[in-house]
Amino acid sequence: MALLNPHNQFYQKTDILERLLEFLKNKKGYVPADEISHHLNISRQALLQHINDLREAGYNIVAVPHLGYRMESLPDRMFPFEVEKGLNTKIIGRKIYYLERCSSTMDIAMQLVCDNPAEGTLILTEAQTKGRGRLGRHWVSPKYKGIYFSLMLKPKVPPAQTAVLTLLAAVSVCEAVKTVTDITCSIKWPNDILVNNRKLGGILTELEAELDRVNFVIIGIGLNVNNEPQELLRNAISLKVASPSHEKIDRLELLREILRKIEDEYLLFQKKGAGPILDKWKDFNITLGQRVKISSARVQIEGQAVDIDSDGGLLVRKDSGALQKFMSGDVVHLR
Ligand code: BTN
Repeated sequence: MALLNPHNQFYQKTDILERLLEFLKNKKGYVPADEISHHLNISRQALLQHINDLREAGYNIVAVPHLGYRMESLPDRMFPFEVEKGLNTKIIGRKIYYLERCSSTMDIAMQLVCDNPAEGTLILTEAQTKGRGRLGRHWVSPKYKGIYFSLMLKPKVPPAQTAVLTLLAAVSVCEAVKTVTDITCSIKWPNDILVNNRKLGGILTELEAELDRVNFVIIGIGLNVNNEPQELLRNAISLKVASPSHEKIDRLELLREILRKIEDEYLLFQKKGAGPILDKWKDFNITLGQRVKISSARVQIEGQAVDIDSDGGLLVRKDSGALQKFMSGDVVHLR
């Protein structure tokens, strides 16, 4: 059975493939075919078929007559079984839908809502043809370059309190990037993740809710990871470009760390409410204290960004002295 189903491209998992993969990965040199067949209790012919399935998925397995097989290199793919390995989360990413390419992981997540998937279900893709950003913008999502996913949460909070989850996601990404790459990110309200004042990533949150009840919060995260300078929009940056060595970043390792951090912060949110998240968000933010121009659907004003509210809204002091609260909008830092 192939690793990717050609019709819907969802990953098809077989225990044998996973065991074969682990077996080959853990061996340094060549392993005789007989030894592998015996270990997996399968025929030589079945082994060859599985080896070919793995090769088709990008695993570089070398075969030498009389010596056997050797895993030469692993593909730069975020296959679910690779993501799951060592993830150690209880909720986040316990169920993963993986697509080689899709329109937008937000669309797939919305389609899945009617199946009532488990909390923490992840829709992960290698490329998007219609990646969405905030305020109707396009999110450029080239294949194998970035991390693009949507996460389905079912928080027991009223719709008005869900904005904090966007801040929670932004904090988690900054923490994970720091842990894996030592690069320090900052957050521009509400959820632009910046490095050197250029955009590294963003978060789009969509709700499936009734007036007073949230069914699903879908958190979409997009991050530029291994994009080359010429592949980036003006004002954008990737981790590869930002890192002093310009070396390729291990997307799998980073993704796992992001998921672990989201879980940690989410459990903290469930236990202690928004307070700790808001404190951490303030540590990463570069908006508070700035003079800003903020445009929302209804108004555009200038003023001083003074604080965020307990529900994640931005408080701006206008020149008249009055405070105005924004739950969404586009912020420009003036100085
Ligand atoms: C923004 O900064 O405007 C938010 C960008 C969010 C992009 C991610 S990529 C994964 C998910 N699917 C989408 O179509 N958008 C989000």
